[in-house]
Order: sequence, then C-alpha cells, then structure tokens
Amino acid sequence: MSPDRAEVVVDLDAIAHNVALALEQVAPARVWVVVKAGAYGHGDVAVARAALAAGASGLCVATVDEGERLRSAGIDAPVLLLSQQSARLAGRIVAARLTPTLYDADAMDALVDAGASDFPVHLKVDTGMQRVGVRPEGLADLVSALAERSPALRLEGVYTHLAVADRTGHPGTNEQLERFAEGLEGLDLDGALIHAANSAGALAHPGSRRDLVRLGIAMYGLSPGDDLDPSDLGLRPALALRARVGHVKRVEAGSSVSYGWRHTFDRATTVATIPIGYADGVPRRLSSLGGQVLIGGRRHPMVGVVTMDQLMVDVGNSTVAVDDEVVLIGSQGADRIGVGEWSAMLGTIDYEVVCGISARVPRRSIGG
Ligand SMILES: Cc1ncc(COP(=O)(O)O)c(C=O)c1O
Repeated sequence: MSPDRAEVVVDLDAIAHNVALALEQVAPARVWVVVKAGAYGHGDVAVARAALAAGASGLCVATVDEGERLRSAGIDAPVLLLSQQSARLAGRIVAARLTPTLYDADAMDALVDAGASDFPVHLKVDTGMQRVGVRPEGLADLVSALAERSPALRLEGVYTHLAVADRTGHPGTNEQLERFAEGLEGLDLDGALIHAANSAGALAHPGSRRDLVRLGIAMYGLSPGDDLDPSDLGLRPALALRARVGHVKRVEAGSSVSYGWRHTFDRATTVATIPIGYADGVPRRLSSLGGQVLIGGRRHPMVGVVTMDQLMVDVGNSTVAVDDEVVLIGSQGADRIGVGEWSAMLGTIDYEVVCGISARVPRRSIGG
C-alpha cells in the first residue's frame, strides 16, 4: 500500500531484531526500552508492544501523557518516567501506575498524598550529566527519606544517566560509573535495580550494564553517535519515510523554482513535486545541503527550498509520473537513504531527525 500523501512505515520485525540483539549482548541484564516522544517518531504503542513481545521487560517515557497513552492502549508493563514530575501530576502518576523517578522528598510527599500504596519508585543520581538527579553524596539521605515513606513508597531502582557513552574512548563514562558506585556504596538498597546504560552504554561499555539497560536509539536501528555505526553492530533501521509524486512538469533552462528562486535550472528538465514539507519534518534547508529522494530506484536531488507542505525534485529525463512512490528515508530498489545521511547533512544526530517527523505524517507498522 502506498501513502495517499506521505507516511512513516515502521518495521516491527526490525524493532524485535534490535531488542533481541541487545538482550543477547547485555544478558543477564534486562532491557527496558525508551519509547518517549512517540517512540522517537516511530509510534509509541506499536513499538512498545513489539519490544515487549521481543523480550523487553519495561518501558521508559518522558511525560505523564506518554505513560497514560500506553496504559490506555492496554499495556500493563512497568512504565518508568525518566524525570521527576511536577507535584501537580502525582494523582495521575498514581492512577496510571507509572513508575516515578524521584530526586527530592517533596515529590515523595506528593505521591503519598495522592494515595500511593506500595508504589515502586526509582531514584536518579546525577553523576555528571548535570541535568537532573540527586548528587551522589545526597543519595544516602534520599534513600532514608524514601524509607520514612514506606510502605506507601517502595524503592525499586536507583540509576544514573551517561553523558558521553557515545564517544567510546572518552574517560568520562568510567568517571561517571565510579561516582555512581561510590554513591551506592554502603547503602541498604534492598535488591533495587541498579541501572546506568543508555544505548551507547549498553553496546559499548559492558561495565555500565548492571541490572538493566535503558535502550532507546539502538532499538530503532539508529546511531547513538559518530563512534558507533548501527549496521556494524548488527542493528536494523526500522523507519522509512515515504510519499508519492503529486505533480510533474517540464521546466525551461534559466527558470527558477520555489520561494526566493534560489535554484535556477541550467537546462530544461522535469520537476516532480512531492507533497511533504517542513511542517512534516523535512527541514527547509535540506535541499541546499544536498538532500535527495529515491524515485524508480534512482536518486534525484531536491531543488529550491523545501516549502511547508511540498518539495520539488529535479528528475532530469527520467520517466516519473503522478503517484510514483518516493522514498525520503529508507530503501527503494538497490539504494537506501539512511537517517544518518540526513543527520550528517544537517549537522545533527539521528535522534533529532526522527523526532522531527511531525504528527501530521501518519505512522503505519509492518511485520510484528
Ligand atoms: C534517562 C535516559 N535514559 C535512557 C535514554 C535512552 O538513550 P538512547 O536513546 O541514547 O539509548 C534517554 C534518552 O534520552 C534518557 O534520557
């Protein structure tokens, strides 16, 4: 089936493959998968179900809305909120049985006041990311504060987040892991799950695996950073971005295209207009950075600035017709445009490209 306009197609078999690969590598550690931001643009419910079926034992999200969406879809697995939330959200966290991340006693009280009972929580330690969490030296007091709120609250996990794990030779990861270990030393944690690893940690720093890994970008078959090539690691990309040709016309040599007339044709050629634009997540400047699409198994350059809802492609003398399939990200014929191609051109990371594909683009899953 081709899209009416544009669509994201997510290969759930690739998600399952990537989860299975990670499980194999990190065992006996468990895998909790990160499905925040609509599963990095892939579609949260379908990805969460596929990952759980492939052996993941928990899910991680950024917001209460995201957790509630999973619960409304009937997903019963643990759902960890990766940051402490406003006290105003405590009632919703308890009602949806989301697992809060905590780093102060006031947030504990809000949950108790909201009726939490034997409620599992995770404590987050800031060992160097300097974003959120309690400092390692404050962990002992936080653990005591939690014990004072037993049996309403129950310690299920203690974790930290790595800032430079994607830079494989960087000493910062070991420094963070040492600080984490020092913070944990001598504490009675009653069998709590200890965790530190994101994808890069899980794949490249065995010492970070501990009891579970929080697998995000690698589950999607994408790169955590320049030092880690997903295909070298055996990961398979799950996302394709496709559209269909909306309009085709001949243009004259010397004529120009799109807003600002920034691209002038040096020869007569054929231009295909594709109904996808920057409001869908194709960055406006991608055309001037060398952005291409696949039509009929061949690469064709975007020309002129990408507009809000449409972009133009110079297809030369190729035979291209309305409704032909256009691949912006993914495979067609023998060729493939990877997310990494976009992120390299745009000077960004794979995460930003896939999270940038807007909600206007419908998600469809295959496999699974
Ligand atoms: C606390 C935390 N853990 C794990 C992850 C997953 O990271 P990655 O996608 O690099 O695996 C994130 C993502 O931002 C995060 O914020």
